[in-house]
Amino acid sequence: MRDSEFEFIRSVVYERSRINLGPDKRELVSARVGKRLRATNAASLGDYCTLLQAGDADEELAHLIDAISTNHTFFFREIAHFDFLRQRAVPELTARARAENWNAFRVWSAASSSGEEAYSIAITLAECLGQQPWQIEGTDISNRILAKASAAIYREETVKRLDATMVRTYFQRGVGPQAGNYRVKASLRNRVAFHHLNLLEGEPPFRDPFQVIFCRNVMIYFDRPTQEELIARLVRRLVPGGYLFVGHSESLTHIRHGLRTIQPAIYQKPTVS
Ligand SMILES: C[S@@+](CC[C@H](N)C(=O)[O-])C[C@H]1O[C@@H](n2cnc3c(N)ncnc32)[C@H](O)[C@@H]1O
Repeated sequence: MRDSEFEFIRSVVYERSRINLGPDKRELVSARVGKRLRATNAASLGDYCTLLQAGDADEELAHLIDAISTNHTFFFREIAHFDFLRQRAVPELTARARAENWNAFRVWSAASSSGEEAYSIAITLAECLGQQPWQIEGTDISNRILAKASAAIYREETVKRLDATMVRTYFQRGVGPQAGNYRVKASLRNRVAFHHLNLLEGEPPFRDPFQVIFCRNVMIYFDRPTQEELIARLVRRLVPGGYLFVGHSESLTHIRHGLRTIQPAIYQKPTVS
């Protein structure tokens, strides 16, 4: 890959998603762009860059971002967040919800990838709140991954990591052509909605604020000004006293945010600013 080609790909990816590809990502970019060359039948990387410059390149740009970004995720990743949600955030915030007349306990899985995070939150809330009003919104920049999240069908080896009672309660075992797959049951799926959203562009499609926001393992791809902008956008969507969870490798130490640090990777919006 020529320097100019890497620079071009780097700049279009940044413009579109704010993902910041450093020089150390050159090999990764080369491997992943290779797939797009084959998919588009571009004869060379130069041709592919020309294709991206065309007026109607929107769809291919989406595929490129999809190919570049990492969707890796799993159920109950970083378990401390789910323990905190169950033991502290839900009891504390539902007590306030009653006093302040909130309609529902709302959680946003920002950068939800294929949905494992959102459904792990759903299982946690189902166990804490049962039939009380609660709902989860999941968002991601990738339409491909959002389709997977909405389908809520996971391979047996992914689900097998979970406790057997949990699997029986919340998953349906596939039969026939679906053998080897598990689908999240409708009782949970009905509480979770997925939407396309670039976290750095436009306004999220929600009216009501959230008690808790999970924004994990996506900020690592952004530079510091972008991280700061993202945190400010998220904080605006939290109720006072609401919690923000970030990935454990994504400390906010060097970012201005105005939140209280509660535990590593757990922050709270002050009730009075
Ligand atoms: C590694 S996954 C994180 C999944 C989950 N939050 C977790 O921690 O397991 C990162 C996700 O961020 C999404 N993403 C990257 N840039 C984004 C942006 N600008 N807006 C929204 N989502 C983005 C990717 O499509 C990918 O699904």
